[in-house]
Amino acid sequence: MTPPPSPSAVLRLGDVAALRAQVRAWRNAGETVALVPTMGALHEGHLALVRQAQARCRRVVVSIFVNPTQFGPNEDFSRYPRVLEDDIALLAETGADAAYLPDVATMYPPGFATTVTVEGLTDVLCGPVRPGHFAGVATVVTKLLLQALPDVALFGEKDFQQLQVIRRAARDLDVPVAIEGVPTVREADGLALSSRNRYLSDEERRAAPTIHAVLQRVAAAVRGGAATAPALAEGRAALEAAGFGPVQYLSVNDAESLAPLDRVAGPARVLVAAYLGRTRLIDNVAV
Ligand code: PAF
Repeated sequence: MTPPPSPSAVLRLGDVAALRAQVRAWRNAGETVALVPTMGALHEGHLALVRQAQARCRRVVVSIFVNPTQFGPNEDFSRYPRVLEDDIALLAETGADAAYLPDVATMYPPGFATTVTVEGLTDVLCGPVRPGHFAGVATVVTKLLLQALPDVALFGEKDFQQLQVIRRAARDLDVPVAIEGVPTVREADGLALSSRNRYLSDEERRAAPTIHAVLQRVAAAVRGGAATAPALAEGRAALEAAGFGPVQYLSVNDAESLAPLDRVAGPARVLVAAYLGRTRLIDNVAV
């Protein structure tokens, strides 16, 4: 019997110079490069990004950096899962070429004083409830894009507002990288894969799929142009009945501008953020 192929070795790149030298070597060999930015604790959702990156480009770099500036003072930065060797093993199985593993001093050297803020798109949804979060994301992602200068960078649609913020920042700042969204990967019961799902107790895990069921119900109700308010009220009540709370938002928004909609007349998303116990879950679906 033929043994299964052994996982390929993943290059570990620790700083900007090593990253740039590797990308330059690939480019000199005529190879295209994709970047998949992550905070580690990788799951099938991240691996779907890697696979799509492999379909786009010859070489794939996955960055793993738990970015302190995108966490608020009462958020889960210190308890965010850090499982580097598991992550590297998954990347090896998936055939990623390199892991970029900068430390905090590499990303934010002493005296660091520049922030990328994206206006408008961050005034809604997660923006008001996570002040500073999107500035942290936009700044670190802009740095990662400029450090690696890949052809393509891929992000999950599960963080839909984040994806739109990154697209806008890259466009506004003329960052020469194509930004690509990848559909959310879900468990069989509809729960979107997330590194934070591992915080859920067994009981919370059983309640968690309600979030996707509610999103689908709202999307179906508003698809034909009916007023969004009644479907959103019903959805919020269903989440609370299933044990979610507080529900930070359940909203129907324009898919491009993210402006809240009373009625749907073009591409739109239903988006939610809600706590289940101590765990904050976000999700969204297309209308
Ligand atoms: O989605 C994430 O994992 C993070 O927000 C990102 C894009 C890697 C920036 O730190």
